[in-house]
Amino acid sequence: MPTPVEASSVQVNLGERSYEIRIVSGALSELPTLLPNWLDRSVYRAGNSRTAHIVTDRNVRSHANIVREGLCATGWTCGITELEPGEKTKSVANLSALWDDLIAMKADRRTVVIAVGGGVMGDLAGFAAASFVRGLPFVQVPTTLLADVDSSVGGKTGINHPAAKNMLGAFHQPIGVLIDTSVLDTLPAREFSAGMAEVVKYGVILDADFFTFLEQRADAINQRDAGIMRQIIARSCRLKADVVEKDEYERTGLRAVLNYGHTFAHAFEALAGYGELLHGEAVSIGMIYASRLAERMNLIEAEVTRRQDDLLRAFKLPTRLPDGWAHSDDAILDRMKLDKKTVGGKLRFVLPKRLGHVEVVSDVPEATVREVFDDLRK
Ligand SMILES: NC(=O)c1ccc[n+]([C@@H]2O[C@H](COP(=O)([O-])OP(=O)(O)OC[C@H]3O[C@@H](n4cnc5c(N)ncnc54)[C@H](O)[C@@H]3O)[C@@H](O)[C@H]2O)c1
Ligand SMILES: [Zn+2]
Repeated sequence: MPTPVEASSVQVNLGERSYEIRIVSGALSELPTLLPNWLDRSVYRAGNSRTAHIVTDRNVRSHANIVREGLCATGWTCGITELEPGEKTKSVANLSALWDDLIAMKADRRTVVIAVGGGVMGDLAGFAAASFVRGLPFVQVPTTLLADVDSSVGGKTGINHPAAKNMLGAFHQPIGVLIDTSVLDTLPAREFSAGMAEVVKYGVILDADFFTFLEQRADAINQRDAGIMRQIIARSCRLKADVVEKDEYERTGLRAVLNYGHTFAHAFEALAGYGELLHGEAVSIGMIYASRLAERMNLIEAEVTRRQDDLLRAFKLPTRLPDGWAHSDDAILDRMKLDKKTVGGKLRFVLPKRLGHVEVVSDVPEATVREVFDDLRK
């Protein structure tokens, strides 16, 4: 099996906000070599103070320590804030605590904020970087597969309002992202699978050959083979970057294709109670619902759904609602009508037309969605 050993790099082209996603295996300590380059090429190039602040969570402290030691050994002054793991950490209270830490270390506009962790750390630290003195240079060192392929690309940062997820935030592109596949070795199996749901999504929405590649290499992927992981992470980042480059601020509607499976998923997650179903698990189930809906709308053959179902299950993902699911179809529909993609109460979905291509379909009859619920009931 051909496994490239080289590190690879994905360039996100956004004018003066362009940045590199560097993908390595066992080379977290490369960061001090990359950082001066990234700063030089960024809008922050005027001042290089060699001061950084790491934001991390307890579960990934050992990875953060490698980054910190590398920086300290090369003359950087480097603070660290360690937070509780989990979605609840994306709060106003923790954002405020980060501002306090930055004030205490006398951070100025040249201080680099470095998130070491999953999407929670990236979103929170990114928003702290976006808001502190109107913008500090920000670096991501993602440690979950979901953060590797999704939250580290695109510049969305933010926190939750007690009443609504991701309600407060800003677009703030990083100056660089360092992805090290070896940190995935400590990632729990369920979190790994959840990240794979987003990887499969990229195949369905944008790249049929990539989907086939995932089918052929599922075993090596499940073994977290470093070479294969670098390949699929790089391809996923490239596919997301292509979309983000054309719709950086989510204004043209193009970025909506990334939400395949998500209208269903957001409703499932909210009803299950956040944390019961991981986001990637909800997306996996949601993609099957969306695909079945596309079948019902005569957009695709059943084969397209079957291949997704098989592949998601190969990555140990659920493709049906869990046993004991207690919520009515009406409750799911009500939730979906609250979704961002609903206009005037009408149901809109991102649906496949074939593997590798999706379109936004408006005016989906509610009765057809109800048929899908019946089709996929256990
Ligand atoms: N900004 C974006 O574009 C974007 C995109 C998708 C998701 N998100 C956000 O990302 C968040 C979800 O991210 P996530 O799934 O990475 O969750 P997470 O950051 O909560 O990480 C999941 C769990 O895994 C642990 N963990 C992380 N890396 C580990 C490692 N290498 N070894 C052992 N444990 C590890 C964490 O401590 C946590 O308990 C959500 O808040 C979501 O809103 C943002
Ligand atoms: Zn998602």
